[in-house]
Amino acid sequence: MKPTHIEHLGIAVKNLDESIKYYEEVLGLECYNIEEVKDQKVRTAFFKLGDTKLELLESTDPEGPIGKFVEKRGEGIHHIAFAVEDTQKALDDAAAKGVQLIDKTPRKGAENLNIGFLHPKSTHGVLTEFCCK
Ligand code: CO
Repeated sequence: MKPTHIEHLGIAVKNLDESIKYYEEVLGLECYNIEEVKDQKVRTAFFKLGDTKLELLESTDPEGPIGKFVEKRGEGIHHIAFAVEDTQKALDDAAAKGVQLIDKTPRKGAENLNIGFLHPKSTHGVLTEFCCK
């Protein structure tokens, strides 16, 4: 398993609309998609920079993972997502090397990608996502 590129950076924000404004008005990027992912209790907004995206995440529930993250650590970078050929295989490979998984099998994320997370305890502090189409 070797990721081909960084598919996206996940960034936790308090207010999606205000954050979109910053990325559009200050950085000149264009939000091309806003999507609610009920399963993860978030609303997401996407920007493209070459092969990589920014995924802004606003919690729709204070008890959801992003709600808790923002409560504890404030706004900021939440996770890094690597593009892999096969999310299940990437998860299995990591598990075989002793990495603790959050997802043993892939689930559907925003943009209909197959995603799976590694636990930050096993990744030197970085919540790590694998994703593929
Ligand atoms: Co993500």
